Amino acid sequence: MHFHIMTLFPEMVQNGLHTSVIGRAEEKGYISVHAVNIRDYTLDKHNKVDDYTYGGGAGMLMQAQPVYDCWKALQKGIEERKTQGNTMPHQTKVIYVTPQGEVFHQKKAVELSKEEDLIFLCGHYEGVDERVLEEIVTDCISIGDYVLTGGELAAMVMIDAIARLVPGVLNNGESAATESHSNGLLEYPQYSRPEIWHDKRVPEVLLSGHHANIEKWRQQQAIERTKQRRPELYQAYLEAQNS
Ligand code: ADE
Repeated sequence: MHFHIMTLFPEMVQNGLHTSVIGRAEEKGYISVHAVNIRDYTLDKHNKVDDYTYGGGAGMLMQAQPVYDCWKALQKGIEERKTQGNTMPHQTKVIYVTPQGEVFHQKKAVELSKEEDLIFLCGHYEGVDERVLEEIVTDCISIGDYVLTGGELAAMVMIDAIARLVPGVLNNGESAATESHSNGLLEYPQYSRPEIWHDKRVPEVLLSGHHANIEKWRQQQAIERTKQRRPELYQAYLEAQNS
């Protein structure tokens, strides 16, 4: 899977995603992360990419031209690669990362992990000229109801969540299936050595070697934890069980 990020701060994205699990997945060729500097596409002789907003108001806006030309170049590269590989080119999803989008969740991560390419557009300043958004954006996504200084961190969060679902990225096929949110519940508590720490014992059932009982205990714990910490998720889980 290929991630393309349109940004004014390519080093931030590139550095942030080159370590740990995602970095290894890239080295092994399961994914690629390609951050492109929108500024490289400006036609302004002073390299400007932003300007004042019509109608007044605080702050600057990213202009349509550099964003559009950057997207065109990316789209062309993707189409050329697909033509060489005999894959039918189709319009690659362009995700505008914005607090005005639908809120990102695990289901969306699963859906997006099936795409071959994804383009992320990271806004800065007061946002991006609406006209270019109308022409290129297919999905507007937020990572939560708060405002960041730019879209880069939000794009990195989403890329991390999506990339780990791409087959091969996690070593252990089990972990993505059992972790929080994969089945509508938060994950059960887990314990490692030693058996007693600060006078706290590992729950007896986990030492029993009885797999069916362990599974049952974990399921109960997951339900209890979800009920306490995320009552709205628990309600949705109950409704899904009864439908
Ligand atoms: N850009 C600024 N804030 C954001 C948020 N909460 N989600 C996505 N992109 C953003």
